[in-house]
Amino acid sequence: MRVSWSLFLIVSSLFLLSVYSEEVKVNTTTTAAAKTKVEPKHPPVETLKSALCKKCKCDKFKLLLDCSHLGLTEWFKVDEIDTLIYGSIAFETIDLSHNNLTEVPAFPNLRVKNLLLNFNKIDKIADQAFLNLTLLTKLDLSNNKINNNGFIPNIFEGHYSTTEYLPLEYLRELNLADNELHKLREDIFEHCDNLEILSLSRNGFKMFDKDTIHAIEDLHNLKFLDLSYMQLSNLPHEILHASDSLDTVVLTGNLFKKIPADALGNSINLKRLNLDENPIVEVGGDSVFPKLEGLEYLSLSYMSDLKTIGVGAFSNLPNLKTLQISHNQLLTTISVEAFASYDKKNTSIVTYPKLENLYLDSNNLKKLDEKLLYNWQSLQQINLNNNTWDCDDHNTWLVSYFVPFIHNFLGSSMTRNIKCATPADMKDKLVYEVHVQTRDSTVEGTSGGSIVLGIFIGIVVGIPMTFGVLLILRKYRNNTPSVNYNRARFENNFDI
Ligand SMILES: *[C@@H]1O[C@H](CO)[C@@H](O)[C@H](O)[C@H]1NC(C)=O
Ligand SMILES: *[C@@H]1O[C@H](CO)[C@@H](O)[C@H](O)[C@H]1NC(C)=O
Ligand SMILES: *[C@@H]1O[C@H](CO)[C@@H](O)[C@H](O)[C@H]1NC(C)=O
Ligand SMILES: *[C@@H]1O[C@H](CO)[C@@H](O)[C@H](O)[C@H]1NC(C)=O
Ligand SMILES: *[C@@H]1O[C@H](CO)[C@@H](O)[C@H](O)[C@H]1NC(C)=O
Repeated sequence: MRVSWSLFLIVSSLFLLSVYSEEVKVNTTTTAAAKTKVEPKHPPVETLKSALCKKCKCDKFKLLLDCSHLGLTEWFKVDEIDTLIYGSIAFETIDLSHNNLTEVPAFPNLRVKNLLLNFNKIDKIADQAFLNLTLLTKLDLSNNKINNNGFIPNIFEGHYSTTEYLPLEYLRELNLADNELHKLREDIFEHCDNLEILSLSRNGFKMFDKDTIHAIEDLHNLKFLDLSYMQLSNLPHEILHASDSLDTVVLTGNLFKKIPADALGNSINLKRLNLDENPIVEVGGDSVFPKLEGLEYLSLSYMSDLKTIGVGAFSNLPNLKTLQISHNQLLTTISVEAFASYDKKNTSIVTYPKLENLYLDSNNLKKLDEKLLYNWQSLQQINLNNNTWDCDDHNTWLVSYFVPFIHNFLGSSMTRNIKCATPADMKDKLVYEVHVQTRDSTVEGTSGGSIVLGIFIGIVVGIPMTFGVLLILRKYRNNTPSVNYNRARFENNFDI
């Protein structure tokens, strides 16, 4: 008995010992293995079969990961991040918009170009959040709660470069609209000074302080700047000075009472400008546009205070092609000299822009003067709808020549809603119809003493002949609706 017991003890302790040593061996081998292999090889992940693509929509053709509108409050989980890093699809666009995210942690190493984080509740962004998105081109942070506390340059820090200071090298477009910023730190863009498109819209800045001006001045490649709805009442003259490539500025919905001419005059390559919804009463006098040789598009619409466009308003815009002056309910006057530009040395030399598109709908205009533009022939589109056109004198240029010209040469649809407001008996009549009636009555009948002659001819030549003439007239009108006649008159007026 004793022997067998001791034998048992020996055997079992030997067994335990061997297990223990086995364990030690395993442990030492794994740690050794971990030491030699620095990066453990991750098994490949079939992206489309992953949990991530069950939660979000994965589009392998557009390389789009769409996680929008999911009410997300949490960031990607570890396995989702593994799918992003090791997955079979390298997404170019990650859309996390319209969720309830409050923070942006640092992204892992991904080949994402477009990152949409708009419409969340983000007020915190990690330092170097985008450092490992080395191809990031477009970042949309609009409609969040970003405020001045957390908005620091470190957020945008990128990798080391010999030419720039830790740049996010490819970032070109940054949308910060609809946040809670009131100013910018002067160094905020020091890691992303290659930005071409920047929106600060709907952040209540009220004014630009020195730091903000410096921040924007850093952006030497800026092309598009959206400063709409920022409660601005003036624009410092340096603000549009920084970039020679700046071609579009949006100043809609601010508190400008005058054209911010000083600042605009510094933006020598400006092509497109929007000043809609500003409380400007008059464009004229000391509030006209400065010399902008390249400006092609200008919009002055939905300005509820605008009454007058005066002498020289657009004289300094020689290459204007599209002008949108719409929905200004008090606008009654556009000076006949709004466009005219007089040569300084010889004032008998006057030049005008060759407008291609003129939109004057929904104002309170009664008259349009033919001398407003020297050459109306370059026009391709015009909208004169919903004004209070005066058709009282049937021979006005507008009624007799211009509206027929639009009808015949630019497209009859463009005259379908140009209506008379006065006199009372013509209210809501189409201007073109008034023209047609007036023309017909001048062709068929005549005035004064010739009526007697008409009756005489009627009697002598006889009624059948008159019918014949009427028949021909009707045919003429149906086939070629007065094209040549109006064209000739129209051009003659401008050959003088
Ligand atoms: C390896 O050793 C560590 C202590 O060094 C211990 O915590 C761990 O549990 C061991 N692993 C195994 C697999 O035994
Ligand atoms: C997200 O926020 C909105 C607005 O506060 C709320 O109505 C909604 O229930 C939230 N969704 C989730 C998933 O938390
Ligand atoms: C970013 O990349 C570096 C170097 O590859 C790495 O050390 C770091 O952990 C990465 N950051 C994140 C958040 O993955
Ligand atoms: C016509 O113009 C008036 C005045 O600007 C405006 O209030 C109204 O909405 C316009 N109507 C249409 C159909 O655009
Ligand atoms: C001014 O220009 C007009 C038209 O080109 C020309 O006929 C006239 O001689 C010029 N006058 C002067 C003083 O140069």
